[in-house]
Amino acid sequence: MKIEVFFSPAGVDELSMRGRNVVIIDVLRASSTICNALNSGAREVIPTPDIENATKIASNLSGDSRLLGGERQGKKIDGFDLGNSPLEYTPEKVGGKTIIFTTTNGAGAIYKCRYASMALVGTFVNVSSIVQTIVGIGGTWTILCAGRQGSFSVEDVTCAGMIISKVQAAAEVETDDAGLTAVILYKNFKRSILGMLRRSEHGKYLTSIGFSKDLKFCAAIDSIPVVPAVDGVGIKLRHSLAEASAKTSQTS
Ligand code: MLT
Repeated sequence: MKIEVFFSPAGVDELSMRGRNVVIIDVLRASSTICNALNSGAREVIPTPDIENATKIASNLSGDSRLLGGERQGKKIDGFDLGNSPLEYTPEKVGGKTIIFTTTNGAGAIYKCRYASMALVGTFVNVSSIVQTIVGIGGTWTILCAGRQGSFSVEDVTCAGMIISKVQAAAEVETDDAGLTAVILYKNFKRSILGMLRRSEHGKYLTSIGFSKDLKFCAAIDSIPVVPAVDGVGIKLRHSLAEASAKTSQTS
């Protein structure tokens, strides 16, 4: 198998991601929020890089079936129903809903992967589920770290290193220099993922604006064993996509 890593989406576009198998990582907090939203029963999450587009999509969907979620500077956007704290995405609030989701880095990185062959959303809370899926499919994978404002963020690259290390425990993996660096970071921080998040730039920022509980949530390895996958414009649970396509082939 082969895994390559992009430290940030700078220089990445829809065409360069087309046809690839990709895992997009935004530990703090978009990937963790998407995992919790879908695990709480949201129908799908539609990622979009900008607020205007989010409100346009929302205006085309019936009011009681959709919610607008996301952040700017880590805070809920004016007029939106939800922010980007994974703790907000409870079954009571999001069960059965379509979430139109815009965040500063993560949603845009996922959006850039909409023409990928397969695009999965990964983070610490679902790391083993992502690893099992990658190992099961095999071949060549790209890990795209969402980073922060176009540059490197330690938590995303550490998570990429964890994925590579776990895949390496199950299969022979060739990786690039970015992947080797990610594994070194993971080995350095693996004893305390929460400690690493607390020391990270974005972790310190989130703590300063009152979201320290989110760091604990996002550090909980394998607490949400789901595989969110991009399906056209939305992100859904991968097993629900497999069930839907099995039903289609039974009826055709
Ligand atoms: C992002 O997409 O930039 C993040 O998820 C920011 C945040 O912590 O809300």
